[in-house]
Amino acid sequence: MAQQKTILRALAGETLPTPPIWMMRQAGRYLPEYRATRAQAGDFLKLCYNPELAAEVTLQPLRRYDFDAAILFADILLLPQALGADLWFVTGEGPRLSTITTAEELGRLKPVEEIHETLNPIYETVKILSEELPKETTLIGFAGAPWTVATYMIAGQGTPDQGPAHALKSANRPVFEGIMHRITEGTIAYLSKQIEAGAECVKLFDSWAGSLQGDDFTEFSIKPMQRITAALKEKHPGIPVIAFPRGAGTKYIGTHAATGADCIAVDDGVDAAWVAEHVQPDGCVQGNMKSSHMVTGGQGLIDETRRIRDALSGGAHIFNLGHGITPDADPANVQLMIDTLRGA
Ligand code: CP3
Repeated sequence: MAQQKTILRALAGETLPTPPIWMMRQAGRYLPEYRATRAQAGDFLKLCYNPELAAEVTLQPLRRYDFDAAILFADILLLPQALGADLWFVTGEGPRLSTITTAEELGRLKPVEEIHETLNPIYETVKILSEELPKETTLIGFAGAPWTVATYMIAGQGTPDQGPAHALKSANRPVFEGIMHRITEGTIAYLSKQIEAGAECVKLFDSWAGSLQGDDFTEFSIKPMQRITAALKEKHPGIPVIAFPRGAGTKYIGTHAATGADCIAVDDGVDAAWVAEHVQPDGCVQGNMKSSHMVTGGQGLIDETRRIRDALSGGAHIFNLGHGITPDADPANVQLMIDTLRGA
């Protein structure tokens, strides 16, 4: 049967009259119903590990908006936790993890086969969603790309310049590469299980790819994503993959071929017309509206929605933000973006 889901059609390279749309962090703190369910769960991590409530918050944005995709509600830092790192979230600050910087600490990480003991509730969430989602909605699974996950495991928190990970990469290459390898193999196992549970597409978030310069970008952003993509496609033929090397700038050129991904997500640091000329000829692109328009709204939002849609109308495009929607966004602006995209 011909593929009917708009997201899967775009991922297959089809140019659609109106691009399908979803939004990074579409289930999140800008929605009062999300905040209520998180309170009911106790905290963010308890919400991630509660399949019924995680499925509920995944579905919440779809009740408000006619999005073409749902993204599994979870976090990229659940994999380090499953590998044995301690993980907690400090309200108003962000994630904290026990750090891995020595051969001994690397040696204490769990083998990849044991991650599912921790991650089983996530697969259960995917299973619930695959049963409950409207038939036209695509279910997206995800994981962090190895470099981005490594930056958190090495520093124990988010860092402005990923300094601790760069430092370990120079000071102790074997330990750095050991961490990258364990994350890469863990990600293949984690995403395979998401696909088996019903994810129809997976996305790799390399949020900190932009700090990798020169050969490091190829070695530590592109190559691990290529290895994961190839392994997933070998195990699950035809599974579409979205890669997001955020902050790549001109290095976005050629990333479809280099990663093997079906779609490259682009941040708002590159212009849509430039993306149309240099990246979209190689395959589907996703992006790249500035998240701040979800706060400011108005004519600026309308103009930008049209500009990005029209600039990328000559090829396969999934409309999205360049990064996640922020907690201070106005939910009404999301509806305005969708109406504008589908209207004049
Ligand atoms: O709706 C969705 O997009 C799906 C769920 C999702 C979350 N995190 C939920 C979340 C996804 C896809 C992620 C990915 C993620 N997590 C990334 C990559 C994308 C990006 O933002 O660059 C990263 C780097 C993380 C790690 C992480 N999780 C950080 C740094 C933080 C704190 C910063 C923040 O935004 O608060 C989180 C917390 C987090 N993950 C929240 C949500 C909804 C907010 C937590 C809360 O509800 O209190």
